[in-house]
Amino acid sequence: MKFLSACSPLLCALAALNLPLAVAEVTKDGSTCTVTALGSGDDTPQIKKAFQQCATDSRIVFQEGTYNIRQVMEFTNLKNVSIDIFGKWVWSADNLQYWIANTLPVEYAGLHTGWKLGGTDIQLRGHGKALFDGNGQVWMDENRGGSNRKGRPINLTIWKAKNVLVDGITWRQSQFWHTFESSRSVAHSSNVTMTNLDMRTRSNSQWSAVNTDGVDTWNSDNVVIRNWTVECYDVSLPTMLRTRTILIKTQDCISVKANSRNIDVRNVTCYESGCAVIGSLGNGNGPDIVENVLFQDFKCNHSSNAAWIKTYSGQGRVKNVTFRNFEFSDVDQPIYVTPCIYSSSGCDNSRLPIEDITWSNIRGTSRYNVAAGMHCSSSAPCKNFKFENIDIKPKAGGTGKVLCSNIQNQASMGLTCTGTCPANWPQQLKGNR
Ligand SMILES: *[C@@H]1O[C@H](CO)[C@@H](O)[C@H](O)[C@H]1NC(C)=O
Ligand SMILES: *[C@@H]1O[C@H](CO)[C@@H](O)[C@H](O)[C@H]1NC(C)=O
Ligand SMILES: *[C@@H]1O[C@H](CO)[C@@H](O)[C@H](O)[C@H]1NC(C)=O
Ligand SMILES: *[C@@H]1O[C@H](CO)[C@@H](O)[C@H](O)[C@H]1NC(C)=O
Ligand SMILES: *[C@@H]1O[C@H](CO)[C@@H](O)[C@H](O)[C@H]1NC(C)=O
Ligand SMILES: *[C@@H]1O[C@H](CO)[C@@H](O)[C@H](O)[C@H]1NC(C)=O
Ligand SMILES: *[C@@H]1O[C@H](CO)[C@@H](O)[C@H](O)[C@H]1NC(C)=O
Repeated sequence: MKFLSACSPLLCALAALNLPLAVAEVTKDGSTCTVTALGSGDDTPQIKKAFQQCATDSRIVFQEGTYNIRQVMEFTNLKNVSIDIFGKWVWSADNLQYWIANTLPVEYAGLHTGWKLGGTDIQLRGHGKALFDGNGQVWMDENRGGSNRKGRPINLTIWKAKNVLVDGITWRQSQFWHTFESSRSVAHSSNVTMTNLDMRTRSNSQWSAVNTDGVDTWNSDNVVIRNWTVECYDVSLPTMLRTRTILIKTQDCISVKANSRNIDVRNVTCYESGCAVIGSLGNGNGPDIVENVLFQDFKCNHSSNAAWIKTYSGQGRVKNVTFRNFEFSDVDQPIYVTPCIYSSSGCDNSRLPIEDITWSNIRGTSRYNVAAGMHCSSSAPCKNFKFENIDIKPKAGGTGKVLCSNIQNQASMGLTCTGTCPANWPQQLKGNR
């Protein structure tokens, strides 16, 4: 077995001259493919080769070094493959037009991805050493704060996969949503565990990041998430300082979207985001169902919302969701429920049920004088809401308002409403109400 060093003196000299390096190559030894970073140029061809040669009952090892990713990668037929990444992967920033033209569609809201991983029995481990750098700043600048830019690649898509483990990876400056975990069918995407991940994206320019969600689950069953730290600043710091605007945090930290079932998320720290969210859902063709979700042991620092549910007035249901052990500080509107997100239309016509929802041990400070804003549809009132140990204090002191409309068991739900919540109540508060 032969392991090539990342860059011998001769190779380094050649690299400096910008000559093609044909030497660093995938080596295959038994069922293990070992990849050495080229050090310059494009590592995508050799990464593709490794995934082709070791696609079944194999291990792929990416040795330490910097890997340059200049092309879309799609590896969707893996079977029993362990991928061990010890190096840094950098997504190129000088060929945006290529990414815009070539990213792979993921069938959701016209969004695209730069890396699709799928198959069965896949283990992707970063050993605390893998660093994924999406060069997101150029995307933020290119996008100029616009909304979901077509072709702007999502970082990693686990696609129609079964039995997947992703562990110990650090992401910096993602181009878009860090990960998007999804499948069209429950039979093909289930049992996905994602542990010990650290994701931070922050715009250093005047353009904001826009929708750099930590994770979005969609059409997924049996997803386990543990030990994550997610930071996703939206409006950039210079903008904030220059304009003295309030940070508007439109991206979500952990977002459980349509047709997600049995989602178990624990020990997550979110900075500058929507924290734990169900939705959006209910704006597609089919019924959008979210069931059996647990969010536990969350810290939400300086977030827009903490433990909340947003649907459109379409088809589907949200059932059996628990938010447990939340601590937060300075959150615009900690608890928020709406049947008509963004549109504020059809709020009281929505028939999408929201039921069996528990908030337990929810404590922290709200930025304004509202602890909870919950408007349910009068056509399908929320059912079986349960609150235990809710302690939300406005940071300026006093008591937080709890605004409620159309909650069927309001009188016995364990939290006293202080007023009604209008249909068009906003997700983002900008002051006391
Ligand atoms: C999975 O692949 C490994 C090699 O990486 C092999 O040792 C093992 O036997 C395979 N498992 C099955 C169930 O085939
Ligand atoms: C984004 O894309 C891939 C996975 O899609 C990842 O390896 C890369 O590091 C990511 N970049 C960032 C900054 O997250
Ligand atoms: C779920 O996936 C893990 C690998 O991440 C595997 O060890 C386990 O056997 C799978 N469970 C089922 C029920 O297939
Ligand atoms: C979470 O982190 C703790 C402390 O580092 C570690 O002991 C535990 O094994 C981690 N959990 C998982 C599922 O990796
Ligand atoms: C929670 O996750 C963080 C990493 O985000 C880790 O440092 C910490 O040890 C974990 N705590 C527990 C109780 O597992
Ligand atoms: C509700 O969801 C939890 C996960 O949070 C699950 O353990 C429980 O079995 C579910 N209850 C029902 C009735 O499906
Ligand atoms: C929120 O995060 C900032 C930056 O890490 C830190 O200074 C502050 O103490 C945190 N607040 C809380 C309540 O955790």
